Amino acid sequence: MELENLFSPGKIGNVQIKNRLVRSATHERSSEKYGYVGDAHVKIYTDLAEGGVGLIVTGFTAVDPGGHGSPFQVALFDDSFTVGQKKLVDAVHEYSDVKIATQLGHTGRLGKHAKYQPVAPSPVYAKSTKLTPRELKTEEVKELIKKFIEAGCRAYECGYDMVQLHGAHGYFLSNFLSPFSNKRTDEFGGSVENKSRIFIDIYNGIRDEVGKNFPIMVKLQTQDFIPEGLELEEAIKIVKILVDAGFDAIEPSGGGAEAMGARMQYPSLVVKKPEDENYFLPTAIQMKPHMKDSALILIGGIKNPILADKIIKDKNADFIAMSRPLIYEPDLPNRWKNGDLSPAKCKSCNSCYWVMLSEPLYCVVKKKRLRREQKLRQKEETN
Ligand SMILES: Cc1cc2nc3c(=O)[nH]c(=O)nc-3n(C[C@H](O)[C@H](O)[C@H](O)COP(=O)(O)O)c2cc1C
Repeated sequence: MELENLFSPGKIGNVQIKNRLVRSATHERSSEKYGYVGDAHVKIYTDLAEGGVGLIVTGFTAVDPGGHGSPFQVALFDDSFTVGQKKLVDAVHEYSDVKIATQLGHTGRLGKHAKYQPVAPSPVYAKSTKLTPRELKTEEVKELIKKFIEAGCRAYECGYDMVQLHGAHGYFLSNFLSPFSNKRTDEFGGSVENKSRIFIDIYNGIRDEVGKNFPIMVKLQTQDFIPEGLELEEAIKIVKILVDAGFDAIEPSGGGAEAMGARMQYPSLVVKKPEDENYFLPTAIQMKPHMKDSALILIGGIKNPILADKIIKDKNADFIAMSRPLIYEPDLPNRWKNGDLSPAKCKSCNSCYWVMLSEPLYCVVKKKRLRREQKLRQKEETN
């Protein structure tokens, strides 16, 4: 059978996943105001579940009001959010063999909130927001660790199969890993162990509360792609620390607002030709020997199912994640499974990013195509 590796079951921690395809965390700006799950948001997830993906990671979910990216971003910072979140999980679980994880995050130094000043490990000016975050006191870092743990426990209570920490793209947790944004001299700065400590404390806190059958994953900054930023060599040391702590899966990523030029760059490269695809594969290959029993989830410009299958076969990754391709085609896994092996239709043009800044997420290219087709049909009917 073609794609036998991609469509073989895999495991993250103790949780069995029906195939190796993961929907990577994608913020849709589709919650009700101020972070509550509504029907439009649930529909995005049931479409994905119906489309055949094995594991869905939700968009970045706020653990604290001060780290809320937008009024239309889902949240889990108090118990009032759990009814809607549970509804979402139950709707996905109706597709009985689909697993779902929530991604927990905080905007950190990239926050731009009407009410809250952004906070970060160190007060380093952020050019994307034109703001300088306030440096957190050690006790305040510990309070935010508690918020992550509480949100992780709420996710467990809502029925999520696992959680993922958002440790990438210049947001709060990745701010601790980067020498560019972390100048601290307390237990959360300095050595690589200290910079990783926040991840370990959150991991241990959630693990202690929920036991070992609830996988805890991390989407991890491995390179900042800016001067004085985090580089892969240091990130490999971080990977070893996180694997030894027990993280069940790591999804390497990199870049973020600080690295972006006029056109979008990392983490979402514009992929114009096949050579640009699978752009975190070299990173994954360097990480893989250090992963022990933790799963490696590859993200970044994956479009070709035959290459994706080979990546799994060659054991360069355990899972293949996609974000933009599933905005265009939520049913892409089923399309591939049913034998249409043509690459994802997504052009990786990043128009979706600009949509998401001001309205609920959709694929611009697909919308234009559907509009063209509709006009054509109307013309044919009137002729
Ligand atoms: C509209 C949009 C929203 C995103 N939101 C998130 C997010 O909430 N959390 C996250 O870790 N990455 C987020 N990403 C990054 C993607 O998960 C992924 O890492 C990146 O787009 C590369 O994968 P792709 O080539 O399959 O799109 C987002 C990307 C897009 C296009």
